[in-house]
Formats: sequence, structure tokens, C-alpha cells
Amino acid sequence: MITVLVCGGGNGAHVCAGLAASHDDVTARVLTMFEDEAERWTAAMGQEGLHIAVRHSGSEPSTVIGKPAYVTKDPAEAMKPNVDLIVITVPSFAHEQYLKALKPYVRAGMTIVGCPGRAGFDFAVRSIIGEISAELSIMNFESLPWACRISEFGQSADVLGVKDTLAGAVQKSKSADGKLDPTAAFQKVLGDYPKLLTRGHLLGVTLSPTNGCIHPEILYGQWKDWDGKPVAKPPLFYNGLDEETAHLISGVSDEVLATAKAIMEQRPNVDLSNVEHIFQWYLRTYPDDIGDKSTLYTTIRTNKAYTGLIHPCTKTDDEQYLPNFRYRYITEDLPYGLTVLKGIAEIAGVPTPKMDHVIEWAQEKIGKSFIVNGKLTGSDLNITRCPQRYGFNTLDGILGMSK
Ligand code: NAI
Repeated sequence: MITVLVCGGGNGAHVCAGLAASHDDVTARVLTMFEDEAERWTAAMGQEGLHIAVRHSGSEPSTVIGKPAYVTKDPAEAMKPNVDLIVITVPSFAHEQYLKALKPYVRAGMTIVGCPGRAGFDFAVRSIIGEISAELSIMNFESLPWACRISEFGQSADVLGVKDTLAGAVQKSKSADGKLDPTAAFQKVLGDYPKLLTRGHLLGVTLSPTNGCIHPEILYGQWKDWDGKPVAKPPLFYNGLDEETAHLISGVSDEVLATAKAIMEQRPNVDLSNVEHIFQWYLRTYPDDIGDKSTLYTTIRTNKAYTGLIHPCTKTDDEQYLPNFRYRYITEDLPYGLTVLKGIAEIAGVPTPKMDHVIEWAQEKIGKSFIVNGKLTGSDLNITRCPQRYGFNTLDGILGMSK
């Protein structure tokens, strides 16, 4: 029997809790600390449990029913003995709140999963949980396993698509010896799909934060020369990409790969072969959606999964549009994405002129200071997940080998 604690109250948390609870040999609980979600979820769920409508390509749509044992806002109740797997499935800005709340109850041998954990999840776990984190298994996945939406809060959710595979990495606890392997345990919770592919060092997932490599760069490409006047309609975000911006995205990705290479040269026993170029990432992630796979530029422009997605904008009184820079493409993808990559590169001794350029432009748009003269010494590092913010200033520190 596996006991899983799902942390969160959003789309992913509903699906994860429902699927987990549908297995006879899995007990699921939910911890949601946001507003009155726990009370609302408990009241809405009643005796019925969660109905999860699943559409997976190649299979008939099906409905999975599962009832979590309970939904609570109290971390002590959530962590009553025997939790094996803690799955954190909230947007990155909320991770810290859960890690701090769970810290007193975390025990050696447990597994903490960031799904998605995104860049710097490993740093946040080690820093917040402290010494005992060496006795935990830590897993980080690049994304959520599904495209999903709540249909009725606390009652039902729609899985619009299931990924075939989900890439991640695990740092296994020695205390987990003899227990179910962390990847196998999480696979059991999710069911047959996506197939979890965990390989390489945990840092490899932090070095694969695709959003940080794509979103601020596309905003920069579109608006760097903007004259400040409203535009007639919001430009297409991905499908409207120009070649110069595709080069920039590729260049940032090259800097990430150079960072991984530099780390492996300095620590030959560390496997960062799980860090891939953004072009490879697209080909792997969207095998059936891309019309023209010849270059990164054509790949992004012809990706059907992006059809109709536009730049975040606000409407003016006369029905025109202004770019909205205070959107997660900067507010999250800078502190939980690009600045983390920059921080790791700085420690690895790799120059990052392209990242620096984008960070300098984007930080100003949200009134923050992360880098100054190409160094991560800005006054707002405390809102990022770059390693320096947690006091990890060496290669061994970022690799979890020492502080
Ligand atoms: P969501 O938008 O449904 O999450 C909302 C939940 O986050 C809330 O219900 C609440 O529990 C928590 N939350 C919101 N504001 C909070 C605050 N100020 N303090 C504390 N908690 C707060 O997120 P979703 O859709 O479950 O996605 C989770 C992560 O997975 C996100 O990072 C998202 O970008 C990513 N993702 C989601 C996909 C989807 O189809 N839903 C697909 C791929 C990735």
C-alpha cells in the first residue's frame, strides 16, 4: 500500500488525487492551504469522490473515479504517519509555502515530487527542508503529466490530453533502500501513462526549464523596439515568432548546454546528459504537432499545439491593445526560470551574454533587479530560485554534495 499526499487545489491536484485514489493499493490525501479550498473541496466531494474524464490519444475516453481519504488545510493532519510520497502540484510560486509547512513532519525515506517542480525546485527543497533532505528521495519533473482543467471544483476534472512520456530525475534517498523505488511508486499513482523517464542528475531538470528559455525571449523579440503605442490586435505569441528571436532562443539554450558541459567537465561523475537543446526538446515533446521540423524557427511557427495563442495584452478604451508584461511569462519565468539558469552558469564559470541581455530587459519591465552589470547581485534575488539566493555558491552546493 502506498500513501500519497497531493499538495494543491488546482487542476493538476484534482486529477492527481482522483487518479491516485482510484487504485486499490494507493491511499490518497490532499493538502490545500489556499484560502478555503480544503473546506470547499470536502463539501463538494461528498461520498462520491472525484470523477476524472480522461482522453488519451489512441484510447476510448474513460471516466476514472477515486475518493481521497480526506482533504485538509492542516499540514499535521495531512502528514499523519505513513506518507510515502508527497506530490507538490501547484504553480512554482506556491512551492515554498508547502515545503515550509511540511518541514516539521518530513521523515527519512519519504519522497518529495515536484510535478512540475521546474527550475530550482531541488534548491528550494534542500534549503527549506534542511539536513534531512539528504535522507529523502527528491524528484523533479519538467511538466504536468496532463493538459487538464477542473470542471466542477471538488467533484470532477477533464484530462484533455495525457503525455506519452514525462521526463524527470530523481535523487534517491539511501533510506529508501528496500522500499518501492520512487519512480515506480509515482508511476503506480499515475497509472500507465505518461511513462515516467527519470534519468541523469536532478540538476538536469533544473537546467531544462523550457519556459525560461522561451517566454521572456519571445516577449523581448516582439517588444524590444516597441514605440509604446497601442497595437490593433495582440500578435501571435509562438506562431508569430521571427527568425531573429528563434536565434536568440537557440543561443540561450546553447548557453544552458555549455553550462551542463562545464559542470560535467569539472565533476566527471555527474550525469547531465538529460539536459537537451530546446530544438530537441520540441521534437521530443510535440512529435505529431509540428508542420515543418527543419529548424527551431519553423518548428515553433508551425507547432499546431500553439494555434491561436497570443501575446498577453490589455485592451484600451478604444479597443486597441497594450502588452501586459506583468504576466507569468515574465513574473514566473524570470525568477523560476531564466535567473536560475544564469545563477548556475555563473557558478560553473560560463559566460551568458544572451541570457543577460534578456534578463536585463525583462527585469526592468516588472520593476525588479536581478542582475547588475552581468552579475547576479540585484536586490530582488530573494524572490528567485537561483542557487545564490539559498546560499549555494559552489558546484558541490548546487549538486547537493555540500552547502
Ligand atoms: P492551477 O492554476 O490550477 O493552480 C491553482 C492552485 O494553486 C489553486 O487552486 C491553489 O491551490 C494554488 N494557489 C493559487 N494561488 C495561490 C497562492 N497565492 N498561494 C498558495 N496557493 C495558491 O495550476 P495547475 O493547472 O494545476 O498547474 C500546476 C502547474 O502545472 C503550473 O505550474 C502550471 O503552469 C503547470 N502546467 C499545467 C497544465 C495544465 O493543463 N493545467 C499543463 C502543463 C503544465
